[in-house]
Amino acid sequence: MENEDKHWKQDFPINRGEANQVSRRDFAKLLAVVSGGMVLGNGIIAAKTFFSDDKTIGEKQKICAKNDIPVGGTKSFVLKNDSVPYILIHTEEGEFYAYEQKCTHLSCAVYYKPGTLKIECPCHNGWFDVKTGEVLQGPPPRPLKKLVVTLQGDDIFVQHPKTENV
Ligand code: FES
Repeated sequence: MENEDKHWKQDFPINRGEANQVSRRDFAKLLAVVSGGMVLGNGIIAAKTFFSDDKTIGEKQKICAKNDIPVGGTKSFVLKNDSVPYILIHTEEGEFYAYEQKCTHLSCAVYYKPGTLKIECPCHNGWFDVKTGEVLQGPPPRPLKKLVVTLQGDDIFVQHPKTENV
């Protein structure tokens, strides 16, 4: 037993100072492994996104009947499998428009101001054009996100614009 204790240094000839140092080669290996893992992870995410088959994003969804929204009125809604709030607007010109109901400045809820053809963000006096969603006034940096509105018979459908022709 005593004899075994004497030989451990010969069996493991590493001194404490060297044990805490990492050689350049080991560090380069570590960097290569971590970088490779990140590249692989990003590749998997990109492939999954490209090949995903989420039909709910592109499909038309019925929101309500035309008669459910009076002229100058609005209806708030969310899409299937989504939690983003949207607003459907029936303007005094008889048109329907749908926008994400979040201001592009600091995400306050936006509202249609009847009779003005404008959407208002009351938080910092931001205003948007009801026909285009473009910013008319105030601090919002971008237009509101717009959905495509389609009328079929008496019903109103919406869908995301990038998948309109799917
Ligand atoms: S959050 Fe809408 S203007 Fe600031």
